[in-house]
Amino acid sequence: MKTTYTIAVLPGDGIGPEIVAEAVKVLSLVAERKGVTFNIVHGRIGGAAIDEDGTPLPDETLRIAKAADAVLLGAVGGPKWDQNPGHLRPEAGLLGIRKALGLFANLRPATMHPVLVEASSLKPEVVAGVDIMVVRELTGGIYFGEKKRYTTDDGKEAAVDQLVYNEDEIERILRVSFEIARNRKKQLVSVDKANVLESSRLWRKVADRISADYPDVALSHMLVDSCAMQLVRAPKQFDVIVTENMFGDILSDQAAMLTGSIGMLASASLAEGSFGLYEPVHGSAPDIAGKGIANPLATILSAAMLLRHSFGMETEATAVEQSVWAVLEAGHRTGDLADGTGKALGTVEMGQLVLDELSKQLANIS
Ligand code: IPM
Ligand code: MG
Repeated sequence: MKTTYTIAVLPGDGIGPEIVAEAVKVLSLVAERKGVTFNIVHGRIGGAAIDEDGTPLPDETLRIAKAADAVLLGAVGGPKWDQNPGHLRPEAGLLGIRKALGLFANLRPATMHPVLVEASSLKPEVVAGVDIMVVRELTGGIYFGEKKRYTTDDGKEAAVDQLVYNEDEIERILRVSFEIARNRKKQLVSVDKANVLESSRLWRKVADRISADYPDVALSHMLVDSCAMQLVRAPKQFDVIVTENMFGDILSDQAAMLTGSIGMLASASLAEGSFGLYEPVHGSAPDIAGKGIANPLATILSAAMLLRHSFGMETEATAVEQSVWAVLEAGHRTGDLADGTGKALGTVEMGQLVLDELSKQLANIS
């Protein structure tokens, strides 16, 4: 069995460094207890890299990431770089690393844990029991099509963003989704805009063709506007949703909020094989950066996904997740989850409670 794993850690901007630090402590505890070594190698990305290296995705960062077994990322972005041209924005670093590492399958689970039912802005009876996996295509579509600005013959400024998908790109994300659905409730909803977009009509055609290979999974199609509506009307009808890049960006934020706080949601961006990049769904929250109050749980849960998908450490991944829920069940909350009655914990305090609980859980395992 492999005993040494390399993890590229890219904290990024805003609250990134604070939350990533807590997740790294969790990973280190797992390694220590399991008797394996996690080599942690830090790299810069986003605004932090723009300031230091003049580019949001330095070659050195890509080199570190490619040499690693998995990548843990915090968040990128902030007002400081908002006026920069597109290629010098922090987001370009994130998009660049997704493309360069072939991270085409973005898994964004939105699971409502019973302790957080009250934190949702929707009625408890609507959201209790929600457990949705949003699978977002991550390296194609309008995010990566040709972009241009030009002036029309009558002197008006115009802009184009091209939305391109080829059938191979559609097929591989559909296959990942069918496999996931197969291990869940065997219901896959493919979301598109086939009543308007040609790329969506191709998407639907490929989805129908691939579905023949997964007779045990029920595939249905839903238009994206309808899906947005159904997600808030009756979210429990969904199990696995698969959709293209931009629709997935929007719907995954929406699905996230069903569960109470975007501060709880983890994500995995997977390449072919076991390599992946793991990051919280939430952003860099510049308004609270450096204050030590950010919720580290989504990043800790992302580390759990890393253990599961990239290292095959299912038991440890589950122990990390159970520890997070146990801490919440005991009533501990960071500010984003607090209802104002109890004390809101800081980032390090919350991280430490998870570590204490995990330490107990791991002792029971070995
Ligand atoms: C996300 C984010 C990114 C995206 C931004 C920061 C480029 O919103 O991961 O969902 O649009 O993909
Ligand atoms: Mg987004």
